[in-house]
Amino acid sequence: MDSLLIEMRAIDKAFAGVKACEDCRFDLRPGEVHALVGENGAGKSTLMKILAGVYHKDAGQILLRGQEVEINSPHAAQMLGVTMIHQELNLMPHLTIAQNIFIGREPRQPIPFMLDEAKLNQQAEALLSTLHLSLNPKQRVGGLTVARQQMVEIAKALSYNSQVLVMDEPTAALTEAEIEELFHMIRRLREQGIGIVYISHRMEEIRRISDRVTVMRDGHYVDTLLTPETTIDRVISLMVGRTIYESKPELPETPPEDVVLEVRNLNRGRELRDVSFHLKRGEILGFAGLMGAGRTEVARAIVAADPCDSIEVRVRGKVVAIRSPKDAVKHGIGYLSEDRKRYGLIVGMDVANNVGMASLTRFLTPFGTIDDKRISEKASAHIQSLSIKTPSVRQRVRNLSGGNQQKVVIAKWLTADTDILIFDEPTRGIDVGAKSEIYKLLNELARQGKSIIMISSELPEILRMSHRIIVMCEGRITGELTSAEATQEKIMQFATQRTELVETAKAGS
Ligand SMILES: Nc1ncnc2c1ncn2[C@@H]1O[C@H](COP(=O)(O)OP(=O)(O)OP(=O)(O)O)[C@@H](O)[C@H]1O
Ligand SMILES: [Mg+2]
Repeated sequence: MDSLLIEMRAIDKAFAGVKACEDCRFDLRPGEVHALVGENGAGKSTLMKILAGVYHKDAGQILLRGQEVEINSPHAAQMLGVTMIHQELNLMPHLTIAQNIFIGREPRQPIPFMLDEAKLNQQAEALLSTLHLSLNPKQRVGGLTVARQQMVEIAKALSYNSQVLVMDEPTAALTEAEIEELFHMIRRLREQGIGIVYISHRMEEIRRISDRVTVMRDGHYVDTLLTPETTIDRVISLMVGRTIYESKPELPETPPEDVVLEVRNLNRGRELRDVSFHLKRGEILGFAGLMGAGRTEVARAIVAADPCDSIEVRVRGKVVAIRSPKDAVKHGIGYLSEDRKRYGLIVGMDVANNVGMASLTRFLTPFGTIDDKRISEKASAHIQSLSIKTPSVRQRVRNLSGGNQQKVVIAKWLTADTDILIFDEPTRGIDVGAKSEIYKLLNELARQGKSIIMISSELPEILRMSHRIIVMCEGRITGELTSAEATQEKIMQFATQRTELVETAKAGS
């Protein structure tokens, strides 16, 4: 018999006015990877948070191996062997790996109830080695890469004997190599009979790793397909409820020659070395490179979000001193951070206020007070044009789905009316339909004469969108390509052009 690990039936969940899930179903077999897909705001995270005890369902049933269960808290879920690894990881950065895994269940010495550190570390070590993870249990979690933190979360889940693992966009912040490692781990877990729910917007990953795919749309269940028997196009058309035509990349018009931004001699310790480049009016300049190449660091140095040892910035030929991101806005430079929660948005505020945040001076009434009505109007217009899914401009950003939060960041900078825009991973976590809308928007901005730097780890996106491409590796610019000459291979060559040889030579001298 085809036994089911999990079966969710007729699940309803509403948040003040928003039906996030309506009559949704989902099931999971032991030893399978079941992908869950849908546009931003379709209800994927909500459905899985119900399974993981984070949210209470309004109606419906959850069966675990055929037995109905009530899952009232994440702890209850854990005890039943259901663990969710969230988009935002949940570890305590100041604790060690071992402490994080066994938090609340630390082995104690009989007298006087002291923590048994040695035993704790031994247990962690044993667990990590069964997972083939070479991590030091005594290391603090805060110093680990996102990929490693994820592995620690998986280890923690398995220490509870979890049979069901839900991963919500696990690869959003991973490098190619780290994704391979994760896939390796997923395959091993699958062999052990663990069921895995895999939420992602990356169709290629879903094709590679999943056994089945369930599609959600607007809070509803649409269909479940066997991965080997379907195509990416089919899945996408079910997601969006229409066929989207990925129009051939229409090469952007060549921009005029005037240089609007020039950066020279940007240096910071060993992280950034001798970075110099220019950006033209109406140009989309792609910044390619592997994770950690220094692209975000360059952007943050330009807008003075981080200090640097030396930098010269010219805006339209004039040297400018930028001392803070606010200064940068005054000089017409906006930076859309890759980390929207930390730098881009105030999630406790509503959509309208976030949209108006970077440009409050433009919304003053004659009496010097802030014109809330005009901000709301502006925000409403962007909600329309970017199709941001929210019940109103007064909704708190915290309550929007991940991808819709990203769109709010974009709306904020469009409102600020800066004419040099630095987009850092603008489409991370954004669904396929919205992605092509964002591409259209970037093209349109460039046509209007705005200048854009686009940092992206997705090569097809860089190739499709950029007039010119700068490639970085280990804090240096290692290559520049025009859109006509650029190929994935050429970019990868520059992106992996390491400088180890130079370093060894220096060290030897
Ligand atoms: N705590 C909450 N309060 C109010 N509304 C919420 C809350 N959590 C989610 N929603 C709403 O429920 C809907 C579904 O959101 P959910 O986060 O499940 O989407 P998702 O499919 O995971 O999208 P994404 O791909 O963007 O992460 C959205 O309209 C969202 O705004
Ligand atoms: Mg989500």
